[in-house]
Amino acid sequence: MADVFHLHLTKDQLAGARIALLPGDPGRVPRIAEALPGERQELAWQREFRTWLVHGPGGAVAVTSTGIGGPSTAIAVEELAQLGVDTFIRVGTTGAIQAHIAVGDVVITTGAVRLDGASTHYAPLEYPAVSDHTVTQALIESARATGVPFHTGITASSDTFYPGQERYGTFSGYVIRRFQGSAEEWRKLRVLNYEMESATLFVVASALGLRAGCVAGVLGNRTLAERVDEAAARPAEPNAISIAAGAVARLLTEYAVRNTVE
Ligand code: URA
Repeated sequence: MADVFHLHLTKDQLAGARIALLPGDPGRVPRIAEALPGERQELAWQREFRTWLVHGPGGAVAVTSTGIGGPSTAIAVEELAQLGVDTFIRVGTTGAIQAHIAVGDVVITTGAVRLDGASTHYAPLEYPAVSDHTVTQALIESARATGVPFHTGITASSDTFYPGQERYGTFSGYVIRRFQGSAEEWRKLRVLNYEMESATLFVVASALGLRAGCVAGVLGNRTLAERVDEAAARPAEPNAISIAAGAVARLLTEYAVRNTVE
């Protein structure tokens, strides 16, 4: 009998895992699990929520897909927290809006513009969507060690892929006034990129006393082209995954040190 409603998991199945890696795409779950050392097993797959567990030398690590957007991300974080997870790393993909960011690079998000709705159910809009410092530092150290070009800064995190990210190549071709000119405004305000989950992840985690970070591979650069160049974008996912895997190793060491000291 599952302990939680959507993920179809029990606390026993998670074997004490305190860290979860969160891709949006269920197809990315095994690819992330394979980048972590240890024995892997698929635990559950219900709707967009697919979970693998990796039993590694430093402890068990969960990999759970969130699906796209805030509402399903909030469900995944909420239910994993109920099962004992306290540290979350989103491993996503993104569209850059600054000219200096190349396709295939990664963005490590320090804070998110809250263009979502789900986070407002956890904390009012005045509450910041910020990543956890320790998790972000682990991601930065890992990125330095891998040599993958990375950028740290603010991400615009939108509930919609089309109007919220000011895309006009749509069925109606119309973007409501609130978002007309918004991509240019975010660009001028030094926002690095668009994705769809970090605002919810950061607010839910902070509000619940959990830790969260976000690394995303750059699939396209909106200052150059609206369409993704598949060949150029190919390194984006493996780059984000290898940085996340290095961060997990660092965070597992941190848990081990804490347990020794306590
Ligand atoms: N994900 C997004 O939300 N936007 C992009 O442009 C690419 C990936």
